[in-house]
Amino acid sequence: MLQDHFVLAEGTYLLNHSVGRPLKSSESAFQQAFFAPWQASSREPWGEWLGVIDSFTASLGQLFNSPQRQFCPQVNLSSALTKLVMALPRLTRDGAVVLMSEIDFPSMGFALRKALPHCQLRFIAKHLDVTDPQVWADHLSHDIDLVFISHAYSNTGQQAPIAEVINLARLRGSLSLIDVAQSAGILPIDLAVLQPDFMIGSSVKWLCGGSGAAYLWLHESHIESCEPQDVGWFSHENPFEFDIHDFRYHSSALKFWGGTPSIAPYAIASHSIAYFANLGIEVVRQHNQQQIDKVMEVLGEWLASPSERERRSGTMILQFSGRESEVMAALEQANISVDARSQGIRISPHVYNTEQDITHLLQVVKPYC
Ligand SMILES: Cc1ncc(COP(=O)(O)O)c(C=O)c1O
Repeated sequence: MLQDHFVLAEGTYLLNHSVGRPLKSSESAFQQAFFAPWQASSREPWGEWLGVIDSFTASLGQLFNSPQRQFCPQVNLSSALTKLVMALPRLTRDGAVVLMSEIDFPSMGFALRKALPHCQLRFIAKHLDVTDPQVWADHLSHDIDLVFISHAYSNTGQQAPIAEVINLARLRGSLSLIDVAQSAGILPIDLAVLQPDFMIGSSVKWLCGGSGAAYLWLHESHIESCEPQDVGWFSHENPFEFDIHDFRYHSSALKFWGGTPSIAPYAIASHSIAYFANLGIEVVRQHNQQQIDKVMEVLGEWLASPSERERRSGTMILQFSGRESEVMAALEQANISVDARSQGIRISPHVYNTEQDITHLLQVVKPYC
């Protein structure tokens, strides 16, 4: 039973769009990767610790089907995005244009506006359907330098047609960047097939890998030409050269790494990412969608997120025409963990959610329908 693999407490946890629950085995994996080197030797543990980062990028490579040299650890998506766009002369010039949606995660807009003060941010209006490739086609004019695409939207439960948008961007001469914060671990992503220009993501949600273990991915063709401004000795071709007069970029995506790296978040995340990569994201997706289908069978008329599978993320949104706060109170009383945003109540079932969890949810919510 997969639920035996996770740290679960009393109650029903459906907040995987926010934070995924850790694996039981993460504690010993962390002990092994982070503390064991201290216990085994009187030397400093950098050799073993850098091996943790190697495992992190290797597990990302397995999960997303891409060589590990194209990944660089990052603290969070905002920081990854700032570092990336400031490294692209095409975006830092006067008059550059970035296309994004008003329903992207706000932090992404904040970061872009500050990192690219001379760039025009053009938005797809929030009432337009971001699951529709035609909406993207209508906005992707030839003057767009970069299109920012969230694979899954946290407040609407929508999935963007990333393959179509990436292809269209390529045809129209624009760069493409995918934000996989809400999709990594729940929607299969094959970078070798998709071939976006850039990707940013994290481990904290469906990958159950905790916060602080985000990542930046670059298409191989961009590694050499990117010029990160926020650098440190670990961005150097040889971090241990120590010549203050000679900085040369690392030859891989690690040129975006920076100063002394943190290790602990990546020790937890790499273990968890490897677990899901081995399990197969199709398995996770299948289970998640079956559970959403079960809720839809009973509460379909209250659904505010898409009903077709290919347009859905891993999150379903239910709206009870003004009765949200009553429903939320009842759910809290029943120890069912969900949250509410502008579009309604967000429900995100993971592999550790059982049929009983869904039955329990339906029992609690039905009286309000
Ligand atoms: C689509 C999306 N992008 C990005 C983020 C988070 O960005 P950051 O790691 O900078 O906090 C979230 C967080 O929920 C998100 O849903």
